[in-house]
Amino acid sequence: MEYFPAPGRNHLFVPGPTNVPEKVIQAFSRGNEDHRSPAFATLSKSVLDGVKDLFKTKTATSFIFPTTGTGAWESALTNTLSPGDKIVSFRLGQFSLLWIDQMQRLKFNVDVVDCEWGAGADLNILNAKLAMDYNHEIKAICIVHNETSTGVTNSIPSIRALLDKHKHPALLLVDGVSSIGAIEFKMDEWGVDVALTGSQKALGLPTGLGIVCAGPKALEAAKTATSPRVFFDWADYLKFYKLGSYWPYTPSSQMLYALRASLDLIFEEGLDNVIKRHARLGEATRLAVAAWGLKLCTKRPEWNSDTVTAVVVPPYINSLDVVKMAWKKYNLSLGVGLNKVAGKVFRIGHLGFVNELQLLGALSGVEMILKDIGYPVVLGSGVAAAAAHLQKKTPLISSRL
Ligand SMILES: Cc1ncc(COP(=O)(O)O)c(C=O)c1O
Repeated sequence: MEYFPAPGRNHLFVPGPTNVPEKVIQAFSRGNEDHRSPAFATLSKSVLDGVKDLFKTKTATSFIFPTTGTGAWESALTNTLSPGDKIVSFRLGQFSLLWIDQMQRLKFNVDVVDCEWGAGADLNILNAKLAMDYNHEIKAICIVHNETSTGVTNSIPSIRALLDKHKHPALLLVDGVSSIGAIEFKMDEWGVDVALTGSQKALGLPTGLGIVCAGPKALEAAKTATSPRVFFDWADYLKFYKLGSYWPYTPSSQMLYALRASLDLIFEEGLDNVIKRHARLGEATRLAVAAWGLKLCTKRPEWNSDTVTAVVVPPYINSLDVVKMAWKKYNLSLGVGLNKVAGKVFRIGHLGFVNELQLLGALSGVEMILKDIGYPVVLGSGVAAAAAHLQKKTPLISSRL
């Protein structure tokens, strides 16, 4: 294997996969075991309950698949919908684009609402579509809560409010891959029917778990939905839940121990504190970008994401050079611009188990790179703006004497 050594730690600031905490690494460093033992059933129940706390739901049923976010998408769609069913979905970045592509390949009838990359979902269009849909042909609204490619967070309560206003029964399916466990997410309060995430983002685990919570309406829909499904079939899982042995096929036991460790870390910090930490880091990053005289890809502050900041570079710079230089010179990993914003945007991920000083290190790296590639930045300007915010907003660590 080719290996590119570099001194010190890599600064992993892509918006997933994220840093894996030491306690999580210790938790998955173990051998195989009998996944039908009573001890494993106890672990299984505890993680299935734990993810419900993470999604802020008491009414949903949770499923943990050995898959990625893409598999979790497929599970959400195929369990609740039948081929030909009409879905309204917003295409406003690479991940919403890919989910829509999956919907189309699964033979759903997708009414795609194209929005500018950098903007949030156009709620006026949704309002009009729901108002016109007298016969309730729309079976689901599918939305990416946090569009990781553009740094846009959509308002899920606003979408629920529109569905309620029109007394529309469509299911609300939400991709929370780069939000759940980092940005406020209230599955029950927001009336989300299916919510999903992946293990390699806020949870700081290796890639390999797709976590899905299905509310009562979604479980009811699953009884009649005719989309072919095998690996992701909720019914198979539900059978095993009744038996108290939880898994229709062999789970990755190591990943489930790691998930337990990650949930413990999150709940020890306090989920609300985790969310506040992300808000602090997000705001500090945006202040740094402003101090550099650069613009966000995100078009309006109400859509600002607290897990990823997409930075637009001036036309004479290729954003890929920023990312390459970061890796080559400073051992810093940043996110590239994807698809429509390739070359125009680079992304700073501030998601998962990351703290104030780590972020300041990454921001100082970005400043130096900007100077390296010929952008007239004042070294220290972004770091100073971010530090001023963090110095004011960072609380004492409550577990420390
Ligand atoms: C918002 C969002 N949804 C879905 C995915 C796809 O997840 P995965 O790569 O785990 O399949 C990603 C990946 O980055 C994402 O950011």
